[in-house]
Parts: sequence; structure tokens; C-alpha cells
Amino acid sequence: MSEDHVEYILVTQNLTKAFGGLVAVNNVNIKVAKNKMTMLMGPNGAGKTTFVNVCTGVLKPTSGKVFFNGMDITGWEPHQVYKAGFVRTFQVPEPFLGLTVLDNVLVALGGSGENPIKAPIKGLWIDEERRNIERAFKILEAVGLGDYWDRLAAALGAGQLKMLEVARALATGAKLIALDEPIGGTDPAYADEILSYIKSLLNKWDVSFLLIEHRIDIALPYADYVYVMDRGRVIAEGDPDEVANNPKVIEIYIG
Ligand SMILES: Nc1ncnc2c1ncn2[C@@H]1O[C@H](COP(=O)(O)OP(=O)(O)OP(=O)(O)O)[C@@H](O)[C@H]1O
Ligand SMILES: [Mg+2]
Repeated sequence: MSEDHVEYILVTQNLTKAFGGLVAVNNVNIKVAKNKMTMLMGPNGAGKTTFVNVCTGVLKPTSGKVFFNGMDITGWEPHQVYKAGFVRTFQVPEPFLGLTVLDNVLVALGGSGENPIKAPIKGLWIDEERRNIERAFKILEAVGLGDYWDRLAAALGAGQLKMLEVARALATGAKLIALDEPIGGTDPAYADEILSYIKSLLNKWDVSFLLIEHRIDIALPYADYVYVMDRGRVIAEGDPDEVANNPKVIEIYIG
């Protein structure tokens, strides 16, 4: 498909973040295509987390621009970015470990049971509750937690908690979800399962992913497009095959 037909949910232009003399993000131009999984890889200290922090408003850029869903969101506050539909999973309040998996998603879905105008009209309230519960179950199925709906979040493993975070992000209506090391601390088989579930969400839930990942041996095949950062700069980009065969990338990871 030609470049003209690709729609981008996130575009950065010469994005730069300096901490004193250290330029952690240096003139970075990254595009995240709609309904695709874009992967950002690179060694420790490359600037990956800083890049996401600058995009999501956690840090203010030194210079450059961030466009999300066609809007210039440069310098927006984190809650504004989040409300616009660009969610960093850790921005969604931590799962309530004492609540069930289902209740965690229901909290993220919100509802008007507390709304003083609607609350007395019980019919409205019950309809909305029912719709929310149905939607929560759909979301849980989609992330592979359907069978765990009545477990306490505290009883979930590390990978399942990540998927609960994804579920909660979906419940808030996220259009772009940034995941920092979603398969960290999980065994390879479950890592594959997580990545497969994430991939299956793209079109079905009209969502896009920006995945920061270290374990490229497992994650790379799932990416639609890959950027490689090193010392603040993008040093390679392309599809997984191109990037895996790029001499600069091989040098960083093996050399
Ligand atoms: N708040 C900060 N103040 C000063 N320097 C920072 C700050 N945050 C990050 N840095 C520096 O910026 C550089 C990029 O760090 P960053 O955390 O973005 O890298 P990363 O690619 O996410 O690494 P990792 O793979 O280890 O998570 C590093 O040299 C780091 O020490
Ligand atoms: Mg990081």
C-alpha cells in the first residue's frame, strides 16, 4: 500500500528532550499507523521511555511537535492526552488489587450510577449498568481474561495484570495504547499469547499500539513497523525483517 493511504494516529516532528546537557530524545520523527502495532526498541538509556513521556505530557518537550489523531497535543497535560484517547497503561490508575477483574474494568468504564440527576431514575441506571457489564465481559474476552472475571486482581500473574491494564485502557475508549515492556517477567509461551491478543485487538477494537520492548526475539515478529533508538536518536526503521537485518541494529544488539 502506498504511503498516501496510511493513516497515522501519532506523529512526532523533530521531538527533542534535553535534561541539562544530556539530549535523551534527539530530533525524533516517529509515526504510528492507525490499527497497527508499532514497536520501539533500543538498548538501555536509548530514550524510549522519555520519548513516550514527552508524547503523553508527563514531560514537556524541549522542542518539536506531537500530533495525535490530527491534533497538535504538544505540551498538553497528561490528563488531557489521556482524555483525548492516548493512554499509557501506567496512567490508568493502578488496578485495584482488592477488586475483582470484572469490577476493575467496570470502574474504568465509569457509569452514571453516581450521577445525582440520573440516579433517581432507576430504569436508566439499570440499563446503563447492564450495558457496562456486557461491554466489560466483551473486553475481558478480547484480552483473554474472560475466565478470570471473578478473581481478585491480586491473584493474577504479571502478564495477566498487564492484560488487565490493557482491558482498562480499552474501557476508557483509548485509541492509542503505549505499553512499556508488556511481556517483561512473563515466560515465552505466555509472552506469545499476550502479543497475539494485543494483535487481535487492533481492528476489532479500533485501537493502535506503541510497544516498547526489550525482548525483541519474541516481540519483533508481531510488529507491523519498527523503530530503533540509540542514544536519543532513531538509528533504523522499517518492517521487522529489514530492521533485524540492519547492520547498525545488529551492531547494537550483538556487536
Ligand atoms: N528525569 C530525568 N532526568 C535526567 N535524566 C534522565 C531523566 N529521565 C531519563 N534520563 C536519562 O535519559 C536517557 C534516556 O533514558 P530513558 O529512560 O528514556 O531510556 P530507555 O530507552 O527507556 O531505557 P530502558 O530500556 O533502560 O528503559 C538516560 O541516559 C537517562 O539516564
Ligand atoms: Mg525505559
